[in-house]
Amino acid sequence: AHQWRGVIREYADRLPVTEATKVITLGEGGTPLVHAQKLSELTGSEVYLKVEGMNPTGSFKDRGMTMAMTAAVEAGAKAVVCASTGNTSASAAAYATAAGLKCAVLVPEGKISMGKLSQAIAHGATLLQVDGNFDNCLDIARKLGEAYPVFLVNSVNPARIQGQKTGAFEVVDTLGDAPDIHVLPVGNAGNISAYWKGYKEYSAPFETTNGTLPAVSTKTPVMWGFQAAGAAPFVAGHPITEPDTIATAIRIGNPASWETAVAARDESGGLIEAVTDDEILAAHRWLSAKEGVFVEPGSAAGVAGLIKKHAAGEVPSGKTIVITVTGHGLKDPQWALRTEDGSDVQPVKVPNDVVTVAAELGLEEN
Ligand code: F0G
Repeated sequence: AHQWRGVIREYADRLPVTEATKVITLGEGGTPLVHAQKLSELTGSEVYLKVEGMNPTGSFKDRGMTMAMTAAVEAGAKAVVCASTGNTSASAAAYATAAGLKCAVLVPEGKISMGKLSQAIAHGATLLQVDGNFDNCLDIARKLGEAYPVFLVNSVNPARIQGQKTGAFEVVDTLGDAPDIHVLPVGNAGNISAYWKGYKEYSAPFETTNGTLPAVSTKTPVMWGFQAAGAAPFVAGHPITEPDTIATAIRIGNPASWETAVAARDESGGLIEAVTDDEILAAHRWLSAKEGVFVEPGSAAGVAGLIKKHAAGEVPSGKTIVITVTGHGLKDPQWALRTEDGSDVQPVKVPNDVVTVAAELGLEEN
């Protein structure tokens, strides 16, 4: 029986590794590309969800972390550090455990979900809650990486982008060609940069040390990125000092991969726009209730963007559209327990009795 071997071994000829590389993996990648029936009906295009919550720690970060941790071991590091809105810290903590390295994570105090916090703790990371936002945390992490004996595993480390580009490879390998449009949430802007790199590399001959690989796809997609309206520096055209959104994963005002994200947008003929928290939560509900896919709020920003563009008459029909949904709903489940008007969902309590339960369900005895 064949098991998926993780993104480094599956795509070794397209990643900066050699036969001698000691690969640190938890079997990441190989995630499902799910046909989104209701979004397809809505738009008249074939819409697919790249469900990245199915990665080992529940987010797309694992694709980059297998590469970053492999690079850390290769460099002889003893400890790694990252700043995070939660998912990177969960992934770093798990992969550091697999690598036998110490891990320190810096997170903005009070602004990361319980699921992500508990993952970092469970995997034995030293977790520091910084009195500041993600951008402040990343500043400190970068300085630690430069001036102290710790290896930085944020996406400013190019190994992370290399690993994350495999998301694009998998989409093309599954569909047989690149989609027409690729949609995804944008925070620190590593992922949009990584997908664009992956799509470009797959659409042209690729030089390796063992020769040239032929192009796999005939085209590249148009890249559509969506930010939370309260944390939308690409829409503003400059960093935001006080980013705010309920989608804590993408609560970022000063994205590290600024130039490469702008290049992805412009070279692809795409866009980076904003969606409000209400639009994000509506898309979150749509995915859960209409498609059967449970994501965290930040992950719904891409879907929110597609729905918004459709309402504006700006989504073409008859195309193939892929949306990366970046993290699992169980990371931050509280949002599912709110109704549209913001009140809490109260589970109905019933006595231990079949007749009352049946009555509560509106069932009549047959
Ligand atoms: N979606 C989720 C669930 C995320 O956790 C992130 C980023 C993004 C989207 C945005 O991706 O930063 O590459 O543009 N999370 C980082 C973290 C910042 O620390 O976990 P990006």
